[in-house]
Amino acid sequence: MGQKRITRRSFMGKAAGVTGGMMAARSIMLEATPIGLPAHPPAPSDTIRFGIIGVGMRGGGLLPAAIKLPGVECVAACELYTSRQELAKQIVGKPIQITERYQDLLDRKDIDCILAPVPDHWHERIVLDCCKAGKDVYVEKPMTHEVQQGFPIIDAAKKYNRIVQVGSQEPSSMLYTKARELMQQGVIGDVCLVESTMGRNSPCGAWRYAIPPNLSPQTLNWTTWLGSAPKRPFSKERFTRWRCWEDYGEGISGDLFIHSLTGIHYAMDVQAPPKRAATMGGLFRWHDGRDFPDVMTTVYDYPNFRAMLRVTLNTSESEVYRFMGTHGILEMGGIENPRGFTIMPQDGKNHNPCAPAWPSEMEAAYSKKWHAEHDTPPGEAKAIESVSYYAPPDYDSTSEHLWNFFQSVRTRRPSIEGPEFGNNAAIACHMANYAYFHNAIAVWDHEARKLTSA
Ligand SMILES: NC(=O)c1ccc[n+]([C@@H]2O[C@H](COP(=O)([O-])OP(=O)(O)OC[C@H]3O[C@@H](n4cnc5c(N)ncnc54)[C@H](O)[C@@H]3O)[C@@H](O)[C@H]2O)c1
Repeated sequence: MGQKRITRRSFMGKAAGVTGGMMAARSIMLEATPIGLPAHPPAPSDTIRFGIIGVGMRGGGLLPAAIKLPGVECVAACELYTSRQELAKQIVGKPIQITERYQDLLDRKDIDCILAPVPDHWHERIVLDCCKAGKDVYVEKPMTHEVQQGFPIIDAAKKYNRIVQVGSQEPSSMLYTKARELMQQGVIGDVCLVESTMGRNSPCGAWRYAIPPNLSPQTLNWTTWLGSAPKRPFSKERFTRWRCWEDYGEGISGDLFIHSLTGIHYAMDVQAPPKRAATMGGLFRWHDGRDFPDVMTTVYDYPNFRAMLRVTLNTSESEVYRFMGTHGILEMGGIENPRGFTIMPQDGKNHNPCAPAWPSEMEAAYSKKWHAEHDTPPGEAKAIESVSYYAPPDYDSTSEHLWNFFQSVRTRRPSIEGPEFGNNAAIACHMANYAYFHNAIAVWDHEARKLTSA
């Protein structure tokens, strides 16, 4: 990844995060390594052929992005709902196999790998079946629906020597890559606290997606959709808004926290689940029979820092990540820089004498001495520079994440977001709900590989 300085260079007398001195602001537009532009077009024999299982909201985005990549071809789609079978055909725009049985895709010798953007209660089964069938698999986030599902996936990927990539795209994002690099260089010092906040304020934001008018047991294979979830009569709501129910999803933690957790684990080079998590939340507004709260704050205990994640589905607020270090703040997103991040340096020093509640003479003497020793001589003040990094306007980390997956399939290079990484982030996501529903601190028992309460 390269970077290009853009011409704007402005100086601000005062800026958030800096006490004293002058702050200079610099802007840098990041340049992506051109995706999928090899020196020569891949030979037909080098083409990766994939099948997709699930062409819903996410699949409807992954599929067009994947088929735009060079040297990649979709040859089959598995869907349980007829209108989405139609959607798959429309997206691909040429004849492909359409089936309701994903095993049909796994049986095909000419399919190299599978994209699996299916609801979370299907993730484990499909990944295990793909590995066993010798197919690499891109499974959506969170990698697991339940804590105990992660280690069998790791074992299967090893046993069958398969690429398993999890679909939170943050590790492929040029922004996270640059932020991680800068933090590893110590640009903001020791990071002791990370905050991530976001809010939504609409039925759609609270997962109340419109129910398709033709949805019925005749157009949807409801029994297969339920899979290993408890048997229930056909429910349009559960199919369309599955994120609301614990039989299929994990609410805020699995849908939204997981992106923050993935970004934080990647940027902070976290290699294990957090030790503990405490959650407060509540269901205040969306009383539609859902299992999950619409407001949730979780505090995580990592060995070298703490992380505080907060989401509300009741007030709109831009998504912000704040990595807070001893030498400043790296703020990603937010109103000021929604498609990038800004580093706001701090020197961590006193800028005035700090001698509270001293008698006046003693205070005056100390103050005089302090200024004599610390004040910058006139003309020697240096500007402290804040730097903003931006992604190009058309930048899309999902395409980059897909490209990384297909490159791993092609070259057998380990995935940028493999099953160990995916499991650590998924465990952290499950800890948030465990703490909320048990009304206790969730503790990750590394030896027993399970969650307990404290
Ligand atoms: N990475 C991201 O930014 C992102 C964004 C949205 C969703 N997701 C993830 O993508 C996954 C899918 O979410 P969605 O919103 O697209 O759900 P969705 O309900 O809109 O689509 C899922 C589709 O999978 C199909 N399906 C379910 N089980 C199947 C099976 N056994 N065989 C074949 N088809 C099956 C359903 O019929 C449905 O059409 C979830 O894990 C979600 O967390 C990720």
